Amino acid sequence: MDGNGRWAEQHGEARIVGHMNGVQGVREALTGCTEAGVRWLTLYAFSTENWNRPQAEVEALMDLLVRTVVNEIDELHQNSVRLRAIGDLDSLPANCRATLDEAIARTAGNTRITLTLALSYSARWEIIRMAKRLAGEARAGRLAPDAIDEKVVSDALATSGMPDPELLIRTSGEQRVSNFLLWQIAYAELWFTPVLWPDFRKEHLFQAILDYQGRERRFGKTSQQVATR
Ligand code: FPP
Repeated sequence: MDGNGRWAEQHGEARIVGHMNGVQGVREALTGCTEAGVRWLTLYAFSTENWNRPQAEVEALMDLLVRTVVNEIDELHQNSVRLRAIGDLDSLPANCRATLDEAIARTAGNTRITLTLALSYSARWEIIRMAKRLAGEARAGRLAPDAIDEKVVSDALATSGMPDPELLIRTSGEQRVSNFLLWQIAYAELWFTPVLWPDFRKEHLFQAILDYQGRERRFGKTSQQVATR
């Protein structure tokens, strides 16, 4: 969800106003996904590196997260949205963690779509944690190093149990992955748009999905193999 700061600048507002307007982008992305039948939506809301932003912006973002979850939770629950979070959640402020935990527990049984917030998340943080976990298991004699395969690695990541993303959307004209789900996006289709996140609407999501549907996903095979599958 990139471009909140630039949106604010273009509108002569403080950066946090950009983040506040970014909440509309979240609503649009989520309702668009439910209308299109998408079952998994993961939003990169706060990276490990975002802690290095000015303290006032970090605090304002954490407050916004708490307020948004509190304001939206009833509607999310009514619409059968299951909320989840991935990342170094222990590093979040206590009130933020508590609000999230409560919302996650309340919506745990919902089945229409899983909305995962990546918070204090980075793929390298997750990969290091996975390596430590597997090394610990191996040292304890519970895991033979030769038994480590793609499934063992996937199951030791924060996204365990989630399907790999099929489509990755980045807004604001940047064409980077910025430490997001590096293992999981091995075969994801990438879609970039100059639209700033607060201006992101369902129509942009549908445009991305239509584009995705027109692509040939070969997974390393030839075009002919894919066609005759
Ligand atoms: C990146 O834009 C955006 C963020 C760091 C925060 C995203 C947060 C929200 C949209 C708030 C609501 C979120 C939830 C899940 C309730 P940027 O600040 O890097 O923009 P810039 O690159 O233009 O400066």
